[in-house]
Amino acid sequence: MKARFKAKIGVKLVVSLMSVVVISGISSIIISRNVINKNVVGQAYEEVRVNLNTAQYIYYKRINIIYLFTNHLASLGYLQTAILQNNRYLLYEKLNEVKKELDIDLMTITDGAGRVIVRANNFGKAGDDVSSDQYIRYVLGNGKSCSGTDIISRDFLLREGKEFADQAFIKVIPTPRARRIDKTVETNSMCIKAAAPIFSGNRLIGVIYGAKLLNNNFELVDRIKNLLFKDERLGGYDIGTVTIFMDDLRISTNVKNRDGKRAVGTQVSEEVYRKVIEREQVWLDKAFVVNNWYLSGYSPIYDIKQKVIGILYVGILEEKYNQIERNATIFALLVTLITAFIAVILSVYLIRSIITPIRHLVAASKQMAMGNYRKIDFTSVDELGYLCMTFNTMIDAISERDRKLKEQTEMQMAQSEKLASLGRLASGIAHEINNPLTGVLTYSTVLYDEIKDPGYRSDLKVIIDETLRCREIVKGILDFARETKIEKRPGSINKIITELLSIIEKHVTFQNIRIKKDLAENLPDINIDINQIKSVFNNLAMNAADAMQEGGEMTISTEYNESNKKIICRVADTGIGIKEENLNKIFDPFFTTKETGKGTGLGLSVTYGIIKRHNGTIRVVSTEGAGTTFTIEFPVDTGVDDVLIKTMTTG
Ligand SMILES: Nc1ncnc2c1ncn2[C@@H]1O[C@H](COP(=O)(O)OP(=O)(O)OP(=O)(O)O)[C@@H](O)[C@H]1O
Ligand SMILES: [Mg+2]
Repeated sequence: MKARFKAKIGVKLVVSLMSVVVISGISSIIISRNVINKNVVGQAYEEVRVNLNTAQYIYYKRINIIYLFTNHLASLGYLQTAILQNNRYLLYEKLNEVKKELDIDLMTITDGAGRVIVRANNFGKAGDDVSSDQYIRYVLGNGKSCSGTDIISRDFLLREGKEFADQAFIKVIPTPRARRIDKTVETNSMCIKAAAPIFSGNRLIGVIYGAKLLNNNFELVDRIKNLLFKDERLGGYDIGTVTIFMDDLRISTNVKNRDGKRAVGTQVSEEVYRKVIEREQVWLDKAFVVNNWYLSGYSPIYDIKQKVIGILYVGILEEKYNQIERNATIFALLVTLITAFIAVILSVYLIRSIITPIRHLVAASKQMAMGNYRKIDFTSVDELGYLCMTFNTMIDAISERDRKLKEQTEMQMAQSEKLASLGRLASGIAHEINNPLTGVLTYSTVLYDEIKDPGYRSDLKVIIDETLRCREIVKGILDFARETKIEKRPGSINKIITELLSIIEKHVTFQNIRIKKDLAENLPDINIDINQIKSVFNNLAMNAADAMQEGGEMTISTEYNESNKKIICRVADTGIGIKEENLNKIFDPFFTTKETGKGTGLGLSVTYGIIKRHNGTIRVVSTEGAGTTFTIEFPVDTGVDDVLIKTMTTG
């Protein structure tokens, strides 16, 4: 099965690097969001708390101013005299002057029993008893001045003038999340006020008091708001709001309704009411005010008897902090994104530097598989660089091996080419010589038979022998030139060798030579010309013996290579070896290094011719002074050789 490969390393690397970037990015966003949340919220409530304190300070400061003025007026001698003389007109003038200066609503002087001497708002109405007012009663009872917040009734206001009762009137507006509605209108008014005793000597001759109505009067809340928040707005709403509650009802506020009107008449939410009015605690938390969520601070407002009668409220639109949070989160997100972007660019660069050499390696390997040996250009000095370098070294080694192999093949081809042309030439000559030689042999034999003279006869004998020798040579040449007939039939090479060795062992030439035989048992029979193969081994054995005049060892071995179906035979000796310059000449006909008359130089040429006709090969390896090994390989299927042209005719 063929495996399918896809370019996936890059994808894997990108995915793993990206997941690191994404995971760390997400976690850093989560962490920074939490941190921002905590800080922003903590800081926000701190801001609300401080603002609430400031609001309280301004509120009580305002009360204190009324207090100081009433005390100051009470200490004025001419006013005391005017009271004693019942000079109402002067008192009326003075009260109006101060009322205007203080920007308050009510200014009244009573006598020592709490009956009104003069009202700043209503000159005509006097003599009524106002000692039921708890501040006046306090002053009359204790002879001391007092100040604070109070609630006064419609009835009381009507005595001052209808406009005050009208200012105090508030219609209760239903609000989501507000407290249970148990009334629909409010007619009482909350006010800040101060009262001071007027003494003549040690005698208490009267009380002076001033009050500012808080219902529908926005001077105080707006002043606090401007001081704390300026005019900051967000999404159509003021960022900061200030409210004064009478009990649970907004009587003075800059919180706006949807239609943009001040939310006077709306109520505080149930949970704030419970905590601030009922349990008299400060509220610092998120609260839903009219239409929006506010980070809010509510603190109770007490009357002179320390009873909670209202609430002072400061709130900051939650959206402001949401926005801070959002901005901070967006910033963190941006930082993360930029970091991720840089990480991506870096990782792309990194991945490239890994992938590129791998791609080159893959491409070069493909080329190599197709037989093109190409080196890789590389710059990296890491493991991949080392891999590329090793690959290049391998390419070098393979190219070198191929080159040598080619050289060798070329040499072998040149050799067989040479031997082939030599063979053609030699066989031409042999044929030409063959016929005259037959003539010489025939006639000299006839003469030898006829002549009785022993002198001539011995000469003729020499002629006949030499002619026979020539004929042997011619036969050898024709053998080499592959022009003798071969008769192939199945035969065992092992058997041929065994038979041959049993004969030559006894030969005098092998007296000093140890003969070793190492034959493979699994050698198959092959189609061969038995006589010719016998002469192959004979020639090689004779040469080995010639090379070991002083003795030595000759080894003949066979082997079967099943994978390529070849029989391999070796004839090795420990003789004198072959000079390197002669190695490519030994198969040439007539090449011999042996003395004249001893060798004709045809043995190896004939051997070569025979092996070729069996589609085999012969190789030689030799070391001068150490020995020579001839290696022959026969294919098990030796082929059908029909090349039998001419045989030598011997008359
Ligand atoms: N085993 C060997 N050891 C050393 N040299 C060898 C060996 N075999 C062959 N030769 C060399 O190769 C030459 C040619 O050998 P070849 O068998 O063709 O001719 P020859 O032995 O010289 O003569 P011939 O075989 O015709 O009697 C030899 O003369 C010898 O120099
Ligand atoms: Mg020989």
